[in-house]
Amino acid sequence: MSKKFKATKPDTILTSAGRDPENNFGIVNPPVYHASTIVFPTVEKLNNRIPFEGVSYGRNGTPTQFALEEAFAQLEGAHRCVAVQSGLAAVTGAITGFLKAGDHMLVTDNSYGPTRKYADSVLKRFGVETTYFDPMIGAGIAALIKPNTKVVFVEAPGSQTFEVQDIPAIAAEAHRAGATVIMDNTWATPLFFRPFDKGVDVVAHAATKYVVGHSDAMLGLINCKDRATFETVKNACMAFGFHAAPDDVYLGLRGLRTMGVRLRQHEKSGLDLARWLKTRPEVNKVLHPALPDCPGHEIFKRDFTGSSGLFAFTLKGEYTDEAEARMLDDMRIFGMGYSWGGYESLIIPGHPGQFRSAVPWNDRTRIYRAHIGLEDVEDLRADLADGLDRLKNNA
Ligand SMILES: Cc1ncc(COP(=O)(O)O)c(C=O)c1O
Repeated sequence: MSKKFKATKPDTILTSAGRDPENNFGIVNPPVYHASTIVFPTVEKLNNRIPFEGVSYGRNGTPTQFALEEAFAQLEGAHRCVAVQSGLAAVTGAITGFLKAGDHMLVTDNSYGPTRKYADSVLKRFGVETTYFDPMIGAGIAALIKPNTKVVFVEAPGSQTFEVQDIPAIAAEAHRAGATVIMDNTWATPLFFRPFDKGVDVVAHAATKYVVGHSDAMLGLINCKDRATFETVKNACMAFGFHAAPDDVYLGLRGLRTMGVRLRQHEKSGLDLARWLKTRPEVNKVLHPALPDCPGHEIFKRDFTGSSGLFAFTLKGEYTDEAEARMLDDMRIFGMGYSWGGYESLIIPGHPGQFRSAVPWNDRTRIYRAHIGLEDVEDLRADLADGLDRLKNNA
C-alpha cells in the first residue's frame, strides 16, 4: 500500500491501516515485537521521552500494539486507540479515569454482566454510585442525571436482551450536564455503528470477539474522541498496568484484515436464521435488532448500517427444563460456550433477570443467545430444527 494513499472506505482501511511494507523489507504484515526493556542510547534521549509517543517500556506499548491501535482508530474515526488485555479491561479502562469518589454514573440496565459487577463492587467500594436506567429511556435520561453524574455508559444493543438505546438522545442530555458518554460497541463494531457521529466520547470494544474473530485470543480496544479523552484513558490504563500481549495483538491485526467479509456473512446467515426461528411454533420472540420483536428496532433502523451474528430468542414457555436441556445437549454444530464473534456457531441459555434492576425481567423467561458462525446456513438450520423437535418431543 503506497504511503501516498490514505484509505477512507472501511474495507480498504481494514486491509491497509497499521502496516507499512515499505519500511518492513516489503513484508506485508508488521512484525511481532516482544519487549519489556527498551534501551536508550543517551541520557538526553532518556530524559526527553515524549509522553504517550514511541516506545519507552514494554508495558506501555510496542510497535506491534501501535500498529493495531492506529488501524482501529482509523476504522472508527477516533483520535487515538488504547489496546488492553481483554474486553472487560477495555470497559473498566474506559470508565475509571473519568470517575472519582463522590461521583455518580448512569449505566444501561442491559449492559454486559461483568460491567455491572465492576460498578457494583469495585466502583461502589471506592465511593462511586451507579444508577441503572431503562435501555429505552431516550431523552428521559435527563430526569436521572444528578449534579455529580460524570459518566453515562451505553451498550447498544445490550447484552442478552438486545434492546437498542437512542444514543444520540442520551448523549445530548449527558453532554448538557457535562458528563462523558462511554459506549460498549462490541456488537456492531465500527463497521455497523459510528459512535463518534452519534455523540459518544469513548468507545470500548471486546476485540476478543469479531476483531480477533477466531476464538483464540483475548483483547480489548478503547477508542477516544480527542486528545483529552485519550490522555484520561491512557493514564488510567497505565496506572492499572494494563497491557496487550504482542502475540494477541498480532492475532487482532490479522483478524482485522478479514473482519468486513466475515461480518457480512455473520449478518446474512444471522438474519436468515433469526427470521426462520420466528416462523417456528416453539419460539415466542426473536430478539434481533433488525426484527420488529426487538425493543429499539426503529432506532436500529435509523442509526445502524448492519447487524452482526449475535441475537437471542425466547420459547413459548410450556417446556420443562429437561426438554430445554435436550434441545441443546445433542446439537451437532452449535457449541455451548460463553463468548462469541468467532467463526463458529454457539448457543447458550441465559437468565437476564439476574442482571436487571431498572426494568425487571421475568426470570422464568430464559433467553437462548445464538451466535451464528460461518458454517453452511442450511446445516445450521437443520441443527436448530432438530433441537426444536427434541424440545417439542420431550415436552
Ligand atoms: C458486550 C461485551 N462486552 C465486553 C465483553 C468482555 O470481553 P472479554 O471477554 O474480552 O473480556 C464481552 C464478553 O463477552 C461482551 O459480550
